[in-house]
Amino acid sequence: MNRKEYWNKEYTTYWKAMTEEANSEGAISRIKKTTSGDYKTPGEKIIIEFFESLHYEKTDKLLDYGCGFGRFYPFFNRITDYYGIDISQAMIDECISRYPEDAEKFIVAEGERLPFEDNYFNKIICYGVFDACYQENAISEMLRVSKVGGSILVTGKNTEYYDDDEQALIAEEAARKKGHPNYFTNVKSLVSQLGQYAYLKQERYFTYRGDFANAKYTDLMPDKFYEWALVIEKKNHLDIHFEKFSDAYSNTWKKKIIKVQNRIIDGEDTK
Ligand SMILES: C[S@@+](CC[C@H](N)C(=O)[O-])C[C@H]1O[C@@H](n2cnc3c(N)ncnc32)[C@H](O)[C@@H]1O
Repeated sequence: MNRKEYWNKEYTTYWKAMTEEANSEGAISRIKKTTSGDYKTPGEKIIIEFFESLHYEKTDKLLDYGCGFGRFYPFFNRITDYYGIDISQAMIDECISRYPEDAEKFIVAEGERLPFEDNYFNKIICYGVFDACYQENAISEMLRVSKVGGSILVTGKNTEYYDDDEQALIAEEAARKKGHPNYFTNVKSLVSQLGQYAYLKQERYFTYRGDFANAKYTDLMPDKFYEWALVIEKKNHLDIHFEKFSDAYSNTWKKKIIKVQNRIIDGEDTK
């Protein structure tokens, strides 16, 4: 399945149900779901508290990068000049039917090829989307369309999580089975490369899967962690280039597979 086909009406219905559940139920019922491969996502209260840590002006041009069905539109539209892009026609149709008064602000576009000029946005919010993107191109585009002094908030999953994080391993395998576009970030490499183009303003590292949903994080990068969120501020408008820092497989999963393979080989050797 090509990636555009994945983000269809069925996914839109699924994502609406997951976010509604995250807002209405406690973490425990969702933990049960993750064992069957379902996604565990934080409730909006936690996410919006994080968004509120940035300072907004009503004149700020804000890009909701991968806006989904527009669930953050009501929050941002009150305080900024809002634009939403998404790769999914089904998601954008849903945004337009919910908010017809701002139909022209919702655009079908790939995050790696944004239909905006350089230095356009004061704020870019990329929440729950970066792990589905071709990340080196995605972050380059975000930096290109951001103004110097503009802020970019981005979340993702790290290549190196704890090997006892069962929920993370289950989610990684389930995503692969479903054909979910799913990439992990070598965050150390990303942060070190970002230094040329941006200041690091906020760091949040969520050690285990589920910590984001419980707002449990550290702001010092640990050796291993599952999810991450950064706020960066563009410091200059240079030609942007990133060496590869993303991978379709986490290192944790790769090591687990190698261990299993070694056990099989050892088993055969001793027969
Ligand atoms: C998990 S949903 C999150 C949506 C929204 N940010 C939210 O939190 O409700 C991921 C969204 O990213 C969009 N998406 C995936 N890959 C994308 C890409 N390369 N460019 C733009 N949007 C993309 C999907 O269509 C989907 O709407």
